[in-house]
Formats: sequence, C-alpha cells, structure tokens
Amino acid sequence: MPLKLGFLGTGAITSAMVKGLCSAGGERYAIRLSPRNAETAADLAGRYREVSVATSNQAVVDESEMVVIAVRPQIAEHVLSELRFREGQNAISLVSGYSLRRVSGLVAPAGRVTRAVPLPSAAQRRSPTAMYPRDEAAVELFALLGTAFAVDTESEFDALCTATATMAAYFAYADAAASWLARNGIPQTKAREYVAGMYAGLAGAAVEAPELSFHELAADHATRGGINEQVLNYLVEHGVFQTFSEVLDAVMRRVSAASR
Ligand SMILES: NC(=O)c1ccc[n+]([C@@H]2O[C@H](COP(=O)([O-])OP(=O)(O)OC[C@H]3O[C@@H](n4cnc5c(N)ncnc54)[C@H](OP(=O)(O)O)[C@@H]3O)[C@@H](O)[C@H]2O)c1
Repeated sequence: MPLKLGFLGTGAITSAMVKGLCSAGGERYAIRLSPRNAETAADLAGRYREVSVATSNQAVVDESEMVVIAVRPQIAEHVLSELRFREGQNAISLVSGYSLRRVSGLVAPAGRVTRAVPLPSAAQRRSPTAMYPRDEAAVELFALLGTAFAVDTESEFDALCTATATMAAYFAYADAAASWLARNGIPQTKAREYVAGMYAGLAGAAVEAPELSFHELAADHATRGGINEQVLNYLVEHGVFQTFSEVLDAVMRRVSAASR
C-alpha cells in the first residue's frame, strides 16, 4: 500500500519533490496536494496518476499519514494554527526559520515532527537533504530524492541550512567565468555550455573521490606555476575566501536566531 503523503503549499519546492518522487517509480506514495497554487496543483495532478488535489488544507491533513509543510514562513504560523493534526501523524516542516519546538507546538498532537531542507535538485533526485531529528520514514522519503543527511542537533541542522545560502553565489561565480569568455569573443551560448560542462566535471570528480578533501582537490587542480595556481593565489591574497567565510558566519547567526 502506498503511504499517504500530503503537501501544504504547492509551490516551487513541492513541485520539485513531487516530480522527483513520481519519476522514482514504484508508486510508493499516494500524494495529496493543497489546492493553492491551483495551476501548479492541476499541472502535477494531470501529469502523474498518483497525485491528486484535495479540497482544502484540512483535507490534506485528514487524508495523509505524512504531511509536508511547504508554505512560506510569513504565513506558516497562521496556516498551521487553523489546522487540526492527529496523534501519531508525521509532519515534515520545510519552513525556514521555524524551530522544531515552534513547529511541534503548531502541529500538536502530531508527535513525529522533522525539519528538512530539500533543494530544487530534488526534481532530478539529486538533492542532499538535511534533516533533524532523524525519522526513518523521512529518511526513506528524502533518500528517494537524492541523499538524506540526518543530523543529531538543531545547531548542525542550522549549519547545513546556512551552507545552502551559497547556491546563488555558485551561479554568480559561473556567470563571472562565462561573461568573461563572452567578452573575449566566445558566443554567449557556447560560453555557458563550456562553463557548465567544466563545473559539472568538477562536481563529478568530487563525488567520485570521497577520500579527497576539497582542499586536496584544489591542490590537485593547481599545477605549480600554472594558471590555476595563479587564480587561486590571487583570490586567496585578496581575501575572497575569508570574506566568504565571514558572510556564512553572518548567515549562521541569522539562521540560529530565527530557529530559537
Ligand atoms: N524553494 C526551495 O528551494 C526551498 C527549499 C527548502 C525549503 N523551502 C521552504 O519551503 C517553503 C515553500 O517554499 P517555496 O519556494 O516552495 O515557496 P512558493 O513557491 O512561494 O510556494 C508556496 C506555495 O504556498 C501556497 N500558499 C499560499 N498561501 C497558502 C495557504 N494559505 N495554504 C496553502 N498554500 C498556500 C502558494 O500559493 P499561491 O501561489 O497561490 O500564493 C504557493 O504555491 C518555504 O517555507 C521555504 O522556506 C524552500
């Protein structure tokens, strides 16, 4: 029997998770979506036969064994305070900045509450998903969408959330390389294709050699006296990585304060 899985909030991250789960095959989940956003909900329900749209948020809760909370932080408290959960129900909160204690209070008496941060790459089943505390059913769910990273403390969870704040900067870094190529005569589409391929290869190399630290990989790619070493040394000397570390400290303070 498929597990009855409900989603409160049918936006970007719900779409990514649903696409990933449905592409995994096996129909392990019967998915109920809340009616907002109607267009996205109808699109997902039309595309996958294991997905259907409930008549209300309360209907999602009533008809699900496991409920994923995927509304924005600004409205999450209001949305949850209007709903009645059941004892023994499993709630997974994706709402950033809501501590385990706060969510647990809002979904009581649902006893099994987990915080998680799936990434948009869940759609391709390539998301590392941080979660706290460990819950076997949640681990099974997120393992289908990539890798489940269950941690032992909320502070470790906050640190992993903080690391997710580097994703936009990653693309900006790639954009700096591609834009530089475009200014130097490479057509923009070719420049983008080249840079995306180069970084995909690097990501693959890191995944395939887990015994090597990133520091070691950097050293391996920086031949003494070569052009990689030149760029790396210049960025180090100009404090780029120090600045990167400082802004992560600032994000961690913000994430931890919100989580308290
Ligand atoms: N996006 C990510 O990569 C990501 C990753 C991890 C965690 N999260 C967390 O997941 C949550 C959702 O993020 P998101 O990016 O998916 O946001 P989003 O795209 O804005 O989706 C939120 C959805 O909630 C719907 N909604 C609004 N009011 C509602 C209500 N009263 N009841 C039910 N649904 C309602 C919205 O519908 P309308 O469009 O009709 O307003 C929208 O479809 C946030 O708390 C975020 O912190 C996001």
